[in-house]
Amino acid sequence: MSQRMQQGQPMIVMSEDSQRVKDKDAQDYNISAARAVAEAVRSTLGPKGMDKMLVDSMGSVTITNDGVTILQEMDIDNPTAEMIIEVAETQEDEAGDGTTTAVAVTGELLKNAEDLLEQDIHPTAIIKGFHMASEQAREEIDDIASEIDTDDEELIRKTAETSMTGKGTEVNKEHLAQLIVDAVRQVTVEDAEGNNVVDLEFLNLETQTGRAVGESDLLEGGIVDKDPVHDNMPTEAEDADILLLNEAIEVEETDVDTEVSVTDPDQLQKFLDREEKQLRDKVDHIVDLGADVVFCQKGIDDLAQHYLAKEGILAVRRAKKSDLEFLSEVVDAAVVSDLESATAEDLGFGDVTRDDEDELFYVEGEDAHGVTLLLRGSTEHVVDELERGVNDALDVVAQTVSDGRVLAGGGATEVELASRLRDYADSVSGREQLAVEAFADSLELVPRVLAENAGLDSIDTLVDLRAAHDDGDVQAGLNVFSGDVENTFDAGVVEPAHAKEQAVTSAAEAANLVLKIDDIISAGDLSTDKGGDEEGGAPGGMGGMGGGMGGMM
Ligand SMILES: Nc1ncnc2c1ncn2[C@@H]1O[C@H](COP(=O)(O)OP(=O)(O)OP(=O)(O)O)[C@@H](O)[C@H]1O
Ligand SMILES: [Mg+2]
Repeated sequence: MSQRMQQGQPMIVMSEDSQRVKDKDAQDYNISAARAVAEAVRSTLGPKGMDKMLVDSMGSVTITNDGVTILQEMDIDNPTAEMIIEVAETQEDEAGDGTTTAVAVTGELLKNAEDLLEQDIHPTAIIKGFHMASEQAREEIDDIASEIDTDDEELIRKTAETSMTGKGTEVNKEHLAQLIVDAVRQVTVEDAEGNNVVDLEFLNLETQTGRAVGESDLLEGGIVDKDPVHDNMPTEAEDADILLLNEAIEVEETDVDTEVSVTDPDQLQKFLDREEKQLRDKVDHIVDLGADVVFCQKGIDDLAQHYLAKEGILAVRRAKKSDLEFLSEVVDAAVVSDLESATAEDLGFGDVTRDDEDELFYVEGEDAHGVTLLLRGSTEHVVDELERGVNDALDVVAQTVSDGRVLAGGGATEVELASRLRDYADSVSGREQLAVEAFADSLELVPRVLAENAGLDSIDTLVDLRAAHDDGDVQAGLNVFSGDVENTFDAGVVEPAHAKEQAVTSAAEAANLVLKIDDIISAGDLSTDKGGDEEGGAPGGMGGMGGGMGGMM
């Protein structure tokens, strides 16, 4: 393609800097890059998984156990590795949890595919086999999953707890799980067919440092983390008419630079009076609308603050845009961007109370449509990791409430799937059979790593698990806390089925994408041998991929 012999002369169509890797080399290159990514997150899997500390080039630190966050924070400049990160991101978008699992399984699929390639099995046979296996696995997941009563609060709380174990949320997981379940309930409505629909848009997650995690709270309505603009303003308002304003209460400035020259003091006074009048008019307009409280996204002039205080109106300036948008749901108000054309209809109605200790306002609506989950923690890092863990759990609970299908965790589902896929493989002819078997083996990575990370013998565990499943115990998994193989569903390790389906599908698709490549044509240098040290990154690259992942930012 790029080089063709023409009258004995090679014809060069690619630039000198470009690089090309073909066939076996291309596969090796891609597979090892993808596997290196998977290796990087493996040790974080499960309740006993460890955390990673990521330091970026500015020296700011992220400590996390969350697969997708680790991969996003790592400064990866390898094209194949980036494809694997997409797996984690898709998993995060679609399911919210299970990102580490999806990436680790992708790595294992590629590792097993490598063995098949060595046996001279053509990539297309492996790709087809993987695809068949993943389709079959989805069907089996649906078969294995238990339909639960979506009012079963106890069980739903268990899904939240399972999702949070091993994260920063661990210590207070009972308390947090209860808050999460309550929060999701508040934003769940039934549609015409009686199905639960969860709208997480009405749920606002706020964080605050300086207090214990156990003091996290669920508040009806929203919060505004600001002070009143003027000391003489009321700090609370009951049954208040609330104006949400996206316009400054300041003197309007002209678009072009203007210069005003005054020749006598009268003129100056007139000019100032006019400015004053403009502000007065704006405040009068707010008074006419009947507003008791103004949350303003922009600035409020000192003089206007004074007028507002005199009128007994509580005003807050420079409120966050996202807060105003959320408040508009809570108190059923419009966000006004032109004060003059605003009408009383645009105002919302609710109670505003002040928390002096935390220096914030609580805003509750009449029939509050919207809740705020206020997460507290001692330091910024604690709160950040808490937020990630709670976010995962919120998605998990939302899925469980709307979908109703759950699975036993601790590797139970993966081992059962592996066993069923091996049976299925018998019905598959040709070389695809070997790929289906390889797929089954790959899924068993999950219990193996769970055991490994918990300091247990992974082979023993897998042998016990297989034996239990052969005896028909579909929900036998590894409970890492007791170290025993037992019915994990009964032990309260429960996961939503949707997340598992998504993980299996995206792992298979990502592996297939990598396997289909037999030619890498790069405009620049592919080897990326510069490594992390040269880039001033953290010492010690990720290894295993030619320095491509050297240096984590
Ligand atoms: N008590 C437990 N015993 C055994 N396994 C557990 C237990 N609690 C959770 N697990 C398992 O831990 C795995 C989830 O681990 P983890 O949350 O670290 O990774 P993930 O969900 O794949 O990715 P991430 O949460 O980073 O997006 C699941 O397989 C789950 O079944
Ligand atoms: Mg998880």
